[in-house]
Parts: sequence; structure tokens; C-alpha cells
Amino acid sequence: MPVITTIDDLKRLHKRRAPKMFYDYAESGSWTEQTFRENSTDFDLIRLRQRVAVDMSDRSTAATLIGTDVAMPLALAPVGLTGMQCADGEIKAARAAEKFGVPYTLSTMSICSIEDVAAHTTQPFWFQLYVMQDEEFVDNIIARAKKAGCSALVLTLDLQILGQRHKDLKNGLTAPPKLTIPTMINLATKWHWGLGMLQTKRRFFGNIVGHAKGVGDASSLSSWTNEQFDLRLDWDKIAKLKEKWGGKLILKGILDAEDAKKAAAIGADAIIVSNHGGRQLDGALSAIRVLPSIAAAVGDRIEVHMDSGIRSGQDMLKALALGAKGVHIGRAYIYGLGAMGEAGVSKALEIIHKELDVTMALCGRRDVRALDRDVLLVPQDFE
Ligand code: FNR
Repeated sequence: MPVITTIDDLKRLHKRRAPKMFYDYAESGSWTEQTFRENSTDFDLIRLRQRVAVDMSDRSTAATLIGTDVAMPLALAPVGLTGMQCADGEIKAARAAEKFGVPYTLSTMSICSIEDVAAHTTQPFWFQLYVMQDEEFVDNIIARAKKAGCSALVLTLDLQILGQRHKDLKNGLTAPPKLTIPTMINLATKWHWGLGMLQTKRRFFGNIVGHAKGVGDASSLSSWTNEQFDLRLDWDKIAKLKEKWGGKLILKGILDAEDAKKAAAIGADAIIVSNHGGRQLDGALSAIRVLPSIAAAVGDRIEVHMDSGIRSGQDMLKALALGAKGVHIGRAYIYGLGAMGEAGVSKALEIIHKELDVTMALCGRRDVRALDRDVLLVPQDFE
């Protein structure tokens, strides 16, 4: 077992252990992957100000996110097919988040269902919804999330139509994998993964299969989802869904100040400044680049969160200093999960937390809630 000290170490191990089609599914962006790449490289353009001779004996990373106490202002983002990176992946990720004291968000497109995750955790988690045309399905899944005690609904707004990822098409991505000759050759080297999958008792895509009209198994799911994403989703519908849910609402996929103002106007509790990890509109700006203008546009009217590109505690500190009250990570914990299951997700959280804490100290800051732009050197062409 190699010594793991960075998120990149987890990524290498994930690549080695998970089947190629699922590793590629995580480690890809849409079309040319420009936005996917810039989500990371733009973080590198921002530098940190070293400060010395500041008492740093009493430091804190504790904060609140939409009114909930957290060990650090970070949540695990919803990731479809998490349970294909590692058997029962959603349950393992949720348990690691719960142990660490940060929220976990379950995707509509998860392998384990809302009920599976609720049965294996003790703290409320967040549920992410893709709005589908079938209103009965939407009403029903909202009711299931309420029943399971989910404490926030994360409504994803940037995927009513799918951005194309070439790797997934070339790999013939399906869950479970179709047994073609190249897939079988690849799976033969992934015995650790296969053993876990053989032992799991979950029904695949438990949020949808058996709950949507005409979807009786995973193979009938893909045409259903392609037809069902609601192309007519607009702010009126979002406001109606807010009423239906009646609890904390987070709007995910905001990348423009005008949309952020609309989110504040309908009374959402938070937005996530996000380009879906570079998986949707290729050519869009990186999330860290648009964050300052969005934070300035909405002020204190709504909580501003951010995701896309966070791979370290330094990245996290930069986002918080540029106006995010919290960050969400996708791939950073998925690498951990694919590498080492629940222990890998815990490891990813520990790595990021330690990096955040030490970086704060070296910048002469003690309280994560008081980070501001003064701690950074930001290039002039950043918005
Ligand atoms: C995602 N993301 C995502 N978002 C969402 O709202 N519902 C989903 O089902 C998924 N599925 C998904 C799968 C995979 C493999 C990835 C990598 C991402 C987007 C996710 O929630 C988040 O916005 C990004 O992952 C953030 O970027 P980083 O942290 O991965 O760079």
C-alpha cells in the first residue's frame, strides 16, 4: 500500500482499482475539456500571502452551512453512479461524511437509493434532484426524501440537456457494464472491485428503478432519463418546487450573476456556483473565476457556495476568501472512494482539512469564517 498524502495519490489508486469505464466517467469533462482543465489551472493563478508573527495557537475550521454546524465548510457533492466506483459507494461516502461532520449529498442518479442511505446513516443527508417531466415521479421522490429526513434539497439547474463526454461514448459506459471483450479483459484485472460488486445486495439506480413508469431495470433506465430531463424548467417551476419541498433549498449550477440574483429573489437558501465540474458547457469560465462577481452581486441575500476544481485545502481556502461560505467536492472524494472505499473518503477529507488548517495558519489566519480576499494575491484579469 503506497503512502497516501495527497488527493492525487488517491486518484492514481482509483485509476488502478476501478474499471476503466467508471474511472473515465469521473475523470472527464465535456467536449474539449477546456472548462474541466481550467477549473484546476485557474486556482493555480491565485497566490497566497504569507504572514508571520501572528498567534496561531487557537485555530478553528468549524462553521455553519445553511444553519447546520460543520467541522469545516465543505460538503460532498452529488455524484451519479457513485456505487459503481465501489460497491455500496453512496452508503460508504455518506458514512465517511457523517463521521467527519460534513454534509453528504445523494444524487438522483445514484446506485443506492434514498432509503438505502437513510438505513445506514444516523445524520440527515442532502438530496439532489434532477427535475424530470414526469410530475408524479418528482412528487414521489420529494416525498421519499422528506420521509427519509433529508435536510436540504439540492436542485441541479445545469443539466436539463446532457453535455457530451467523448470518453463515455467510446467506452460504451453502462451500469452495470455490458460484458464486451475489452470490458471483460479490463474487469479481469479489477478483482477487488468485482468481489465487492458480487457481494452487494443493492438494486441498481434505486431512486428510479421501480419508482418511474416503465423503468423496471437498469437497462430501461437510460432511454427514460434521456427523455425525461425537463427542458421546460424555468424560474416559475423552481419556485413551485420550492413550495412543494418546503425545506432548505440549494440551487446548483449557477455561473452568472443575473441567475444568482434570480435565485436570491425566489428565496432559495443557497446557491452553488458551479459548472458541474466541467461536464456540461465546455467553454464556460471556471467556477473560481466567476465566484467573486457572483458573491458581489448577491451580497448577504443568499448563501454562496462553490464547486468545480477543488482538490486541496489551499483551493478551498482560495474559494472561501473569494466569497464562498462553503465549498463542495466531487472528484476529490470519488478518487478516495474508488481507491479505498469508506476509508478513502475519510482520507480525502482528512487531507483537505489538514491542508486548510495549516494554510490558514501560514497565512496568519485563525478562523475559517473570517477569511477574506486580503489573504490572496489575485490576478487582475480575474472578475
Ligand atoms: C457529477 N456531478 C453531478 N451533479 C449533480 O448535480 N448530480 C449528479 O448526479 C452528478 N453526477 C456527477 C458525476 C460525476 C462522475 C462527477 C465528477 C460529477 C457534478 C458534481 O456534483 C460537482 O458539481 C462536480 O463534481 C464539482 O467538480 P469537482 O469537485 O469534481 O471538480
